[in-house]
Amino acid sequence: MEKINDAITERIQAMNARVNMLKSADLYFYNQPITELRGGARVLVNGREMGMYASYSYLGLVGHPKINAAARDAIDRFGTGTHGVRTLAGSLTLHSELEETISEFKQTEAAITYTSGYATNLTVVSTLVGRGDYVISDKLNHASIVDGCLMSGAKFVRFRHNDMESLEQRLQQIPSESAKMVIADSVFSMDGDIVDFPKMVEICRKYNAWLMIDEAHSVGVLGKSGRGIEEHFNMPGSIDIKMGTLSKTIPSVGGYVAGKKDLIEYLRHASRAYIFSAALPPAQAAAAKAAFEVILEEPWRVEKLNQNASQFITGLKERGFDTLYTQTAIVPVICGTDEIAFSMTSAAQHQDVFVLPVVSPAVPPGLARLRATVTAAHETDEIEHAMDVIYQAGKQIGLVN
Ligand SMILES: Cc1ncc(COP(=O)(O)O)c(C=O)c1O
Repeated sequence: MEKINDAITERIQAMNARVNMLKSADLYFYNQPITELRGGARVLVNGREMGMYASYSYLGLVGHPKINAAARDAIDRFGTGTHGVRTLAGSLTLHSELEETISEFKQTEAAITYTSGYATNLTVVSTLVGRGDYVISDKLNHASIVDGCLMSGAKFVRFRHNDMESLEQRLQQIPSESAKMVIADSVFSMDGDIVDFPKMVEICRKYNAWLMIDEAHSVGVLGKSGRGIEEHFNMPGSIDIKMGTLSKTIPSVGGYVAGKKDLIEYLRHASRAYIFSAALPPAQAAAAKAAFEVILEEPWRVEKLNQNASQFITGLKERGFDTLYTQTAIVPVICGTDEIAFSMTSAAQHQDVFVLPVVSPAVPPGLARLRATVTAAHETDEIEHAMDVIYQAGKQIGLVN
């Protein structure tokens, strides 16, 4: 076949050239094969045991015996796959039991599940808003939200990151009779900061806007029992559309929305990722259900996570690093240039601390970073050691004194 030379070819070549350049400089850290998980806080990577500081298993639930047993039992009862979409022949009792568990956990009337958090945002946003409506999104919202907004055909309005004045200004410019939905992450996935929820709720009420919150990084993290942002601010019933993922604190895969019965019934009959895509596999549904139960049965995990996050943030700041405004287990260690972020990663990984670099376009140029996370599975001395390694790397590279 003759080679086509067009914009598509150029795009492929440009990306692959960047990847190859990093690989040849030994600075490519993505997609590394993990051969074994050792207790949640440690992993075997390319035959080397490393401390894991890039995991979203915030409560250390991967491999939990009750969750593993639930998954095994589901395979014994239902096999490994659903045989189609939920609406037709793929709905199992396991799915409705999971949805009931989620709605109880999130203190709503009902819930619906999808096969990933990404698909959930895409389908829910684009089902609820469309041409002639407005969707108003924080500038640092997750890519899946941005993609859902773009796909919806609604007017896509963005406000300055976590700036409620900017949100209000945008809403003032929208005709009052138009349908509008405000969307934000509860905890921002790159910076770890928490949305100004009380003010956002107040503004949404004032302007009759629906409020959708993505709780990917707040379930198991915020609130005394880990129920999320409403519990954290003691503001039950404030969110119209509570979105979350089953792939971070919950050691499974999938996504969900919890809310009023009417909303969920509508999504079950109108959202395309539900109607036209196969259901969650039995093992994953059962594992997710068991995980929500474990969070409530073992509340020490949320407490330990909070202690670990605060040790990590305080310790890195004391060592001279800029960690932006994080208040959670996602801790950005600002490096500045992509090159410094890659060198920091290389130095840390050579000392068996598994952190990863996040560079542009995932974050703005000049704000390349290590995005480090701690979980409830880490011990105090392990965290101290990891911080010392990051500090030595920073000193060697001239990022800190
Ligand atoms: C804020 C946020 N929303 C949604 C997603 C997508 O979730 P999933 O990995 O389940 O597709 C992620 C995952 O990175 C996320 O960080």
